[in-house]
Amino acid sequence: MLVTGREILEDAHRNNYGVGAFNVNNMEIVQAIIEAAEETNSPVILQASQGGIKYAGIEYIAALGKVAAEKAKVPVALHLDHGTDFNQIMLCIRHGFTSVMIDGSRFELEDNINITKKVVEVAHAVGVSVEAELGKIGGTEDHISVSEAEATFTDPDEAVRFVEETNVDSLAIAVGTAHGVYKGEPKLDFDRIKIIKERVNIPLVLHGSSGVPSEAIKRAVSLGINKINIDTDLRIAFTHAIKEFIKENPDNIDPRKILGPGREAMKEVIKEKMRLFGSAGRA
Ligand code: G3H
Ligand code: ZN
Repeated sequence: MLVTGREILEDAHRNNYGVGAFNVNNMEIVQAIIEAAEETNSPVILQASQGGIKYAGIEYIAALGKVAAEKAKVPVALHLDHGTDFNQIMLCIRHGFTSVMIDGSRFELEDNINITKKVVEVAHAVGVSVEAELGKIGGTEDHISVSEAEATFTDPDEAVRFVEETNVDSLAIAVGTAHGVYKGEPKLDFDRIKIIKERVNIPLVLHGSSGVPSEAIKRAVSLGINKINIDTDLRIAFTHAIKEFIKENPDNIDPRKILGPGREAMKEVIKEKMRLFGSAGRA
């Protein structure tokens, strides 16, 4: 069933578990996520980035997400990931997204508050949930790049003011993760997660979660992370399986035979994540 992001994250916040938000770009990815969610009885968030929307077309992404969610036996939210443009966010809402992210992290605090407030006002008026970002998460996600030097951790005092003034539903915080493949092992600032959670008391979001060791994810969830964004790990599983198939079957030209193993491999990774995050069995 299609539900709002808020519905899914409030339960996770109340009961102290994490829900995976997985990036979608095509039908196979949507199917892998939904099948994994049904097989583990897990709520799930399908998220499309601006790049994903550009690749597939908003009509296709919205239709795929909605059909999948409505058919699914588990709660599914359709979310815009890293929205940076007010008009793009409105377009997603018009196309039936049930949750949107306004990423104003490139702005100074005051401007980030203002743009987030504006999105929250409109989105809440039509029952759509909003995620915002405070602090700067490093790495590259689609066209958004933040260098290591530019990345800054979320300040707890600013987080309190930000949440109070914007009335946002969930908050993405910068605590040491980065988008893309890690060079070394990421070091998370667990104390910061704990302090921010105690002070804002709303669902917190961890971006750049691919490649983060399982123990660190578990600890982050126990301290208050409720939405865990995964893109890179899915890309790796999908692409490796396809490459492997082509290597073993160089003459096969059937897209279904080629993409099928990608979908299967991705589904297995997603199921593992759902168990790790604690969303399995929560639908
Ligand atoms: O917004 C999406 C993510 O934060 C995904 O990050 O590609 O490092 O898993 P990742
Ligand atoms: Zn992200």
